Amino acid sequence: TTAARAEGAGFAFKPIPIGTDFDVHVPEGYQWKVLVRWGDALFSEAQGAYSPETGVPVAMSDKVFGENTDGMETFTDGDKTVLAINSEYVNPKINLPADSEGMPKNADEVTLLKNMQGVTVVEVADNGNGYEVVVDSPYNRRITHETQMTMDGPAAGSDLVKTNADPEGMSPKGTMNNCGSGKTLWGTYLTCEENFNGYFGATGEFTETEGLKRYGIGGEGRYAYEKFDARYDLSKEPNEPNRHGWVTEINPLDPTSTPVKHTALGRFKHENAEMVQAADGRVVVYMGDDERGEFMYKFVSNGTWTEGGSTEGLLSDGTLYVAKFNDDLTGEWLALTPETTGMSMEEILVFSREAGSKVGATTMDRPEWIAANPLKCEAYCALTNNKNRGVKTNAGGDEQPAMGPNPREVNNFGQIVRWRPEGEDHGSEKFGWDLYVMAGNPTVYDNAYGGSENVNEGNMFNSPDGMAFSSDGFLWIQTDGEDSNEGEFAGQGNNQMLIGNTETGEIARFLTAPNGAEVTGLTWSADKKVAFVGIQHPGGSWPDGNGKPRSSVIAVWREDGALIG
Ligand code: FEO
Ligand code: CA
Ligand code: CA
Ligand code: CA
Repeated sequence: TTAARAEGAGFAFKPIPIGTDFDVHVPEGYQWKVLVRWGDALFSEAQGAYSPETGVPVAMSDKVFGENTDGMETFTDGDKTVLAINSEYVNPKINLPADSEGMPKNADEVTLLKNMQGVTVVEVADNGNGYEVVVDSPYNRRITHETQMTMDGPAAGSDLVKTNADPEGMSPKGTMNNCGSGKTLWGTYLTCEENFNGYFGATGEFTETEGLKRYGIGGEGRYAYEKFDARYDLSKEPNEPNRHGWVTEINPLDPTSTPVKHTALGRFKHENAEMVQAADGRVVVYMGDDERGEFMYKFVSNGTWTEGGSTEGLLSDGTLYVAKFNDDLTGEWLALTPETTGMSMEEILVFSREAGSKVGATTMDRPEWIAANPLKCEAYCALTNNKNRGVKTNAGGDEQPAMGPNPREVNNFGQIVRWRPEGEDHGSEKFGWDLYVMAGNPTVYDNAYGGSENVNEGNMFNSPDGMAFSSDGFLWIQTDGEDSNEGEFAGQGNNQMLIGNTETGEIARFLTAPNGAEVTGLTWSADKKVAFVGIQHPGGSWPDGNGKPRSSVIAVWREDGALIG
């Protein structure tokens, strides 16, 4: 019996009420604790480096756990457990000295911010009490905005990705805005670069191309990087943004390995990367582009994979598709090729959004995480919300009519779409779809904004975002939405994690987060007895109870030691 599995009817836990306080809550019979917080030491030289008043000093900033935890995955090496964990972005008002007022005022402060983001690889040990960090483990590693990487696939080495520092266009530095994650069939980590646009700005003149505009790049950067580092200055390095917005593969079990950016998987604001296998053994990666009115994609390799076999070319040689949904509950994957788009292969991959528009892909309500059911051939995407549906377009994007799996005009609640590939084959180019849930508030509305039938006063939520399946085929749903608990959100409380039965449609609340936080990132210990859950941008002074709030990964387990995943 696992946490979610029904004993007869319902769930094997008692659903919990909404949270409105600055703490984490789990059901009766479960325990939780903080596993690792922003600023916690990965190496002994950084122990005690974090201060509740001033945060982390720049010299120690890449020797501690990063900020704003997000996607994560579990890896094992013999009896060792290693987590790879994304640090999506920073909270400059919290992370920088008070006199900076939320914007770096020198190169050191830019370095501080760069070092808090990227990926943390950390060994954790089972102490019988929700695991603990192994300080100084040889696996421990920080991958930041400065880490040297390589690129592969058709856009690697193209003119579009060449810079002064890298005239060959093969050696980008850094991975940024690492949002969701994925795990390859062969046991490596996929980290997904989302809102990379915010790191670039211009100190002088630059050409505002359609390619920059469609991704929201131009003008002033969000973190003033461009003032202190020419790499982020569009007037000096106009191609640098083209080296970000990719899916990057990391081998967490080899601390000397060089991360690889896979251009074949397309460039957009990647949420996560859910890898499955086609019936004939080809590798399939489902991916969402999280922006209002952007698209859902899938990559299908040309080669096939077998356990223990070669992985050569599997993420560099294949076809990128974009999703088209029809109102009649059918859909198709449209191949992005020079023939279908009139663009070169390099252009298709670097400017995938434009390629998607050319073939008539369906504009979506912000595709966040995609999760595939391990027990049957179907996948789910959280369409988190879209305040612009049917109202206006993104810069350079397409019209956004309310249609298909995005049926509501202004959509503050979000929904989860499910698709079943034709012939029960993830390699198929056709699928049928339905909505697993349409979030809403049935106590405020008695129309479509009240939500689908499986939403009620006791389980309501808004803005589904993170999602993962436990091995028993239950869908765990994390939210990143409005937590005011007022107006049309009254009765929904803080952000939360729910568990969904995908056979019956039932959904039950399992965890509530501190006010201000979103819940994002979910993985389990190899023995499935402990769930690791990310709490990003908490409010108040959680979890310390004093000083700054600290984004954290928590461990959740059953008091009776039974399985939870
Ligand atoms: Fe980083 Fe779309 O969430
Ligand atoms: Ca997200
Ligand atoms: Ca979100
Ligand atoms: Ca987030």
